Amino acid sequence: MRAESHLFHRIPAAPLPLATRGEGVFIYDEQGNRYLDGCSGALVANLGHGREDVARAMAEQAARLAYVHGGAFTTEPAETLARMLAELAPGDLDRVFLVSGGSEATETALKMARQYWVEQGRPEKYLVISRRLSYHGATLGALSMSGHAARRRPYRPLLADFPHIPPCYHYRCPFCQAEPDCNLRCAHALEEEIVRTGPEYVVAFIAEPVVGAAAGATTPPPGYFEAIRQICDRYDVLFIADEVMTGFGRTGRMFGIEHWAAVPDIIATGKGISAGYAPLGAVIARAEIYRTIQSGSGGFVHGFTYSGHPPSAAAGVAVLTILQEQGLVEAAARKGEYLKSGLLQLQARHPIVGEVRGKGLMLGLEFVRDRATREPFCRDLKVSERVVGAAFRRGLCVYPGSGTVDGVRGDHILVGPPLIISQPELDLLLSILDEALTDVENQVLG
Ligand SMILES: Cc1ncc(COP(=O)(O)O)c(C=O)c1O
Repeated sequence: MRAESHLFHRIPAAPLPLATRGEGVFIYDEQGNRYLDGCSGALVANLGHGREDVARAMAEQAARLAYVHGGAFTTEPAETLARMLAELAPGDLDRVFLVSGGSEATETALKMARQYWVEQGRPEKYLVISRRLSYHGATLGALSMSGHAARRRPYRPLLADFPHIPPCYHYRCPFCQAEPDCNLRCAHALEEEIVRTGPEYVVAFIAEPVVGAAAGATTPPPGYFEAIRQICDRYDVLFIADEVMTGFGRTGRMFGIEHWAAVPDIIATGKGISAGYAPLGAVIARAEIYRTIQSGSGGFVHGFTYSGHPPSAAAGVAVLTILQEQGLVEAAARKGEYLKSGLLQLQARHPIVGEVRGKGLMLGLEFVRDRATREPFCRDLKVSERVVGAAFRRGLCVYPGSGTVDGVRGDHILVGPPLIISQPELDLLLSILDEALTDVENQVLG
């Protein structure tokens, strides 16, 4: 009998199994049950579980030097990680601000963009434009940028009034449905919004290259981010790529934005940077942004106690080294093709799967009541949670999502196993998901 829990659980009604260890793509609970981690937690554990090499790098650093304040000292792991990120990042992004996770990263990017324009003598600029059906984090600045109605609703009075433009959502595109081909109206919506708001008030546009939690791996068409880049340049608006989920190989490229010929001004990262071994994130900025602040007021008015935390930075160095040495970015692209074709076969058998989408090992399934009309299920049926539950009972973790259609209605799951997953493990994932979908269809159809 387990002692009473004093944790402030997110969903108190659901008792959780006690996870005790992990190995490769599997997690084990105290009863010895095995779960295939088909979503890397929340698309985090990209190298799989139980890696002694990463654990050792962190332990050695913790024993040598666990903490110094970033205002007083720099450290070897923080410098090394920043150097590696500057080398990996596209274009002239070469200054790195270390943080402890994704929300801190997007919040930092927002404040960096704002201070950059203040230092340029444009203090009237303060608004960040983002897209509906997006998620940029849980803190109030990050949530203000997030375009997800259900997540925003309880906190609405506390949020900054930032503008949101339509998402890039081919399956339900309000623009393309009236057109024979995609004409990138969703990208031009940014220009319309900047002009409507007044470019003199806009600091930045933020977007996830492939949308994760809010929309289930919706992916823009060719030319989308190229058009976004041109619009941002035309109106003196910085382009922030939120790579918290897409970064570090997840989509089959080191950064998700590299699928398009568009270099952002700032990249926000988290999750895969430490593959779950430590709380870590990083904001990578163009040298010019750093120089402007350096030669202006002389200091970024922002910081966290744990910025550059040495054992976390050591985890980041170890993870990025393994990622490159083992060619896991290319592996994600290859394995993603295999997994996607398996998911498309499941779609052919399961009428509730409306669309399979995504890139690399960041794949999404959107569920619909009627494939012909694309009508979503009533949210009360909790179809996404049912699929996740049916898979979990069979030993597979997939990541739930709802509000896919408009921030409230709609269901999807994300499938995003560790990049080290083998082909037999991918087959196991597909066969468990197949059974789970049959189970849910029997409950909700007919
Ligand atoms: C694209 C994106 N940005 C930001 C965040 C927030 O990151 P964190 O939960 O580490 O604060 C997430 C988390 O899911 C995310 O997917």
